[in-house]
Amino acid sequence: MSKILVTGGTGYIGSHTVVELLNAGHEAVIIDNLSNSEAAVLDGIEQITGKRPPFYQEDVRNRTAVQGIFTDHPDISAVIHFAAFKAVGESVMKPLAYYGNNLDSTINLLECMLAANVPFFVFSSSCTVYGQPDELPVSESAPIKQAESPYGNTKQMCEDILRNVAAATELQAISLRYFNPVGAHESALIGELPRGVPNNLMPFITQTAIGKREKLTVFGDDYNTPDGSGVRDYIHVVDLAKAHVKACERLIAGDNKKSIEFFNLGTGRGYSVLEVIRAFERVNGVKLNYVIGPRRAGDIEKVYADTSLSNNELGWKAELGLDEMVASAWKWEQRLGS
Ligand code: NAD
Ligand code: WQD
Repeated sequence: MSKILVTGGTGYIGSHTVVELLNAGHEAVIIDNLSNSEAAVLDGIEQITGKRPPFYQEDVRNRTAVQGIFTDHPDISAVIHFAAFKAVGESVMKPLAYYGNNLDSTINLLECMLAANVPFFVFSSSCTVYGQPDELPVSESAPIKQAESPYGNTKQMCEDILRNVAAATELQAISLRYFNPVGAHESALIGELPRGVPNNLMPFITQTAIGKREKLTVFGDDYNTPDGSGVRDYIHVVDLAKAHVKACERLIAGDNKKSIEFFNLGTGRGYSVLEVIRAFERVNGVKLNYVIGPRRAGDIEKVYADTSLSNNELGWKAELGLDEMVASAWKWEQRLGS
């Protein structure tokens, strides 16, 4: 059983991963500056697991703070790095904030962990690195396309940094490329906390269903897809969280084949926006007010993952389907609204 430092551990994916680490018998230490999450998330983690991990409200860019965590916890075995800014549209408006936060935090963290002789690093990457792939399903060996946004570029640049550092140091890294994470823990004690108007489909659906938003706009119905709306590989956040446990265990056991490995995290199945809407309505018995609108700038037509490498090599497979995703997302929204 290992102690894992989780940056961004009170965030959406980080909090679900902390729960799965604790459920698997590991320990977690969290650092988060609460720039996009709340300390109350720790209560949810504690209610689910019966454990409250040590929490540092600090910025991952703060060298002294991060060094202090490794001093306080000399038994940390591995690091999972979630902390980053993640809003694609905002990154176009504020590129320096995105390059500054996402790159500086990664560089500082790598320097501190290597100085503390902690070599194992799991990184939150994104399917955005593939852009619109030439072939579907997209595998990890597909070419990395010119990033559409500063946000996407930070993921590509961090992967490059990891490649270079893994070649030059003791670093052993796994970069996990998430497709579209959605849903919440079945307890509805933790979930996604979008600030302001959500950019992503699922929180926009649930906020519309509960009446916080008047209507959902489907961004385009003239794509080359079966019903014309965009297709994505939605993945339940609890499945995603479990893959991080596998990745840490793989590194710590020395089962990794290379000093840096890349794995797609998706279900391998694409759903259109209209299919997600229909599943949400059917599973939850709720009618959704939606209209068809124009395409959103920068959107790709369709993407879904080739999951054979993560299935066969990482030993992980998504278990939850679209019905569980839309049910848990709705349960969480209802809890937030109550
Ligand atoms: P989130 O915003 O909910 O979580 C990120 C957490 O990091 C937040 O709690 C925030 O307060 C914290 N944070 C940000 N900068 C920090 C800093 N400098 N120091 C300390 N804490 C800091 O986001 P999420 O959806 O949980 O995403 C986690 C990671 O996964 C991010 O790296 C994101 O880019 C990546 N990712 C997310 C998605 C998605 O759709 N949610 C998809 C692919 C990749
Ligand atoms: C999904 C589908 C939209 C909102 C983004 C980032 C990506 C990754 C995941 C971090 C698309 C459609 C959406 C709405 C809609 N994040 N949609 N109406 O764009 O696939 O990916 O989040 O790494 O990098 O780009 O996710 O949830 O925004 O959109 O019709 O109000 O829903 O057009 O087809 P996306 P999304």
